[in-house]
Amino acid sequence: MQMIKVNDIHKSFHKLEVLKGISLEVQKGEVVAIIGPSGSGKSTFLRCLNRLETIDRGTIEIEGEVLAAPGPDGKICYAPEEQARRICRKMGMVFQQFNLFPHLTVLENVIEAPLVVKGVKREDIVPEAEELLRKVGLLDKRDSYPSRLSGGQKQRVAIARALAMKPDIMLFDEPTSALDPELTGEVLRAMRQLAEEHMTMLVVTHEMAFAREVASRVVFMDKGEIIEAGTPAEIFSRPAHPRTQAFLNNML
Ligand SMILES: Nc1ncnc2c1ncn2[C@@H]1O[C@H](COP(=O)(O)OP(=O)(O)OP(=O)(O)O)[C@@H](O)[C@H]1O
Ligand SMILES: [Mg+2]
Repeated sequence: MQMIKVNDIHKSFHKLEVLKGISLEVQKGEVVAIIGPSGSGKSTFLRCLNRLETIDRGTIEIEGEVLAAPGPDGKICYAPEEQARRICRKMGMVFQQFNLFPHLTVLENVIEAPLVVKGVKREDIVPEAEELLRKVGLLDKRDSYPSRLSGGQKQRVAIARALAMKPDIMLFDEPTSALDPELTGEVLRAMRQLAEEHMTMLVVTHEMAFAREVASRVVFMDKGEIIEAGTPAEIFSRPAHPRTQAFLNNML
């Protein structure tokens, strides 16, 4: 099943074209790592998928439903608001900055969106939230406030919070790049576990070891384009494009 299908998407900020025709398909259960230099458009691409940014050209389909496509006049048309929101809810997103609510406890952070957005009953969501916290190893922090947590713990709460909405797809934008090196491992472990449970994942990362070991496919982006994509073995051991080679030489 095709979870994400984007075709030739373009995005400009004023005169700066940041995405210059990105096409990508992601199948159910795939873990796709997106790597590339700073400013190449990786975050913008993820943000376009869940409508945090709007595209100028191209099409976006999520699980076979059209989120954005050209209308009869060629201009991009988004699905009606209600439907677009429902489509975007299929995707959970974890950012570099965890964006937890500081005035809510860990448990309250996790149950907030299901309560408010989905109208799930508190007694139904609390056990699920506790199970998710157990899974990311933070059940004992259930009643703590985010200010009392380490960066790695905050990020694991952010992962549990995204999962509480029961997404079919998880989008990660450099989830470990704001963390001290000794805290990245615990977050990568939580992500690896998700991958093992066959969650469909799109992960922007500079953790090359993670991409190599966990990703089913690696996509190299540079200057708003996908330069090449392949299995981790193909991209890391025998990159075809000189720009990929140069980037990896710099990273490793
Ligand atoms: N809201 C915005 N307004 C104007 N320009 C933007 C905006 N967001 C991003 N850009 C520009 O778009 C380009 C791509 O940015 P983006 O954040 O997508 O890159 P990135 O690949 O995620 O980089 P990094 O690895 O540093 O996170 C950059 O030149 C950036 O300055
Ligand atoms: Mg970015």
